[in-house]
Amino acid sequence: MNSAAWFERAKKVIPGGVNSPVRAFNGVGGIPVYFKSGKGSRVQTEDGTELVDFCGSWGPLILGHARDEIVEAVTQAAADGLSFGANTAREAEFAELICSLVPEMEMVRLVSSGTEAVMTAVRLARGVTGRRKIIKFDGCYHGHSDYLLVASGSGLLTGGISSSAGVSPAATEEVFVAPYNDLAAVEDILKNYGDEVAAVIVEPIAGNMGLVEPVPGFLEGLRAATSNCGALLIFDEVINGFRLAPTTFGHTIGIEADITTLGKIIGGGMPIGAIGGRTDIMSHLAPLGPVYQAGTLSGNPVAVAAGMKTLELLRDESPYLKMEILGKRLADGINRIAEEKNMQIHCAQRGGMFTPFFRKEPIRNLTDSKACDTKEHARYFHHMLQSGFYTPPSAFEVAFVSASHTAADIDAFLEAFGNTFPQV
Ligand SMILES: Cc1ncc(COP(=O)(O)O)c(C=O)c1O
Repeated sequence: MNSAAWFERAKKVIPGGVNSPVRAFNGVGGIPVYFKSGKGSRVQTEDGTELVDFCGSWGPLILGHARDEIVEAVTQAAADGLSFGANTAREAEFAELICSLVPEMEMVRLVSSGTEAVMTAVRLARGVTGRRKIIKFDGCYHGHSDYLLVASGSGLLTGGISSSAGVSPAATEEVFVAPYNDLAAVEDILKNYGDEVAAVIVEPIAGNMGLVEPVPGFLEGLRAATSNCGALLIFDEVINGFRLAPTTFGHTIGIEADITTLGKIIGGGMPIGAIGGRTDIMSHLAPLGPVYQAGTLSGNPVAVAAGMKTLELLRDESPYLKMEILGKRLADGINRIAEEKNMQIHCAQRGGMFTPFFRKEPIRNLTDSKACDTKEHARYFHHMLQSGFYTPPSAFEVAFVSASHTAADIDAFLEAFGNTFPQV
């Protein structure tokens, strides 16, 4: 059976045939690819093809697919027991490792996904401050909990409107939405509601409207504005954490968030999430404090083994310079080709993260990102796929160069991009 046949079969028993909507290829059209196996930068598909993977499971696979040491650690952990629902020495060691790599985290609590981490972080912020409102940014994604599924279009001083059916307005009324990179908008909200705001939550480098970097002063300004009004600053580093250095982005730039959320990389491909911060804040979590959070599979030994080995390898091998060089080679290549062929494209890149935006102008927020030509993105996606390269099947995502990619992978990608895409 090929991908098309599997998709037909799956659609009968899984809503839309997928367990996460973007996998349905609605953003690019066509039949979703069914993956069979992966090693390093390559995946094998149910269609009998091999693809160079630049999606990397949406970010966790910074060391590539099925890295031997991680598979060994997982196999050993699984053989020792899949779950206990009780404490293990490994959880303590893993928390120690995270706290040692991220000094602003004096304590860390493990959960099972990024969504769960952010949900807990927001509850914690509300519990600590005794306030209800939060500020988020248009185009930042923080998982699928009710109050964070808030779209743009809402006035800054009114509650946001949910982007999903089934979300109670009561949940989103507590959420203000500001444009990313717009410090003045946040300051305006805080001027009026500063004593009601529990937290400002932000992806320090945005990765869910394509790759959008913070403008100078934006994150510093958020730090100062939140401190001034007694609100907490939450850095959602589910994508950023351990991406550009073996620590958080916040730590790298010297801005200390009150609460940081992690996911993706820290599970090395297994389901995990984490919330971390200073002891005085983390102590509000049960059983030390009154903010409840729990999980049958939290700190699962197999996930912890995968995450621990991944972080150890990142710490010991530090493949970050390599990923930056390869990422830059790729982005420079796309930009050069776009220039030569007068294509309305520019590629944003930071370390191993990159997004080809189908628009020449720089992207500072969701409004800019939405102005990109999504039809051209879909055309790019399918031509790259046919040429043997898997990129995220949505125009509003970050693609990833992992430590397992080679210069030859990048050059082959660029050749396909230059030779095939513009001529079709
Ligand atoms: C910044 C950010 N936060 C939270 C999440 C939610 O994580 P998960 O999909 O593990 O629930 C994501 C997922 O892409 C994310 O990018």
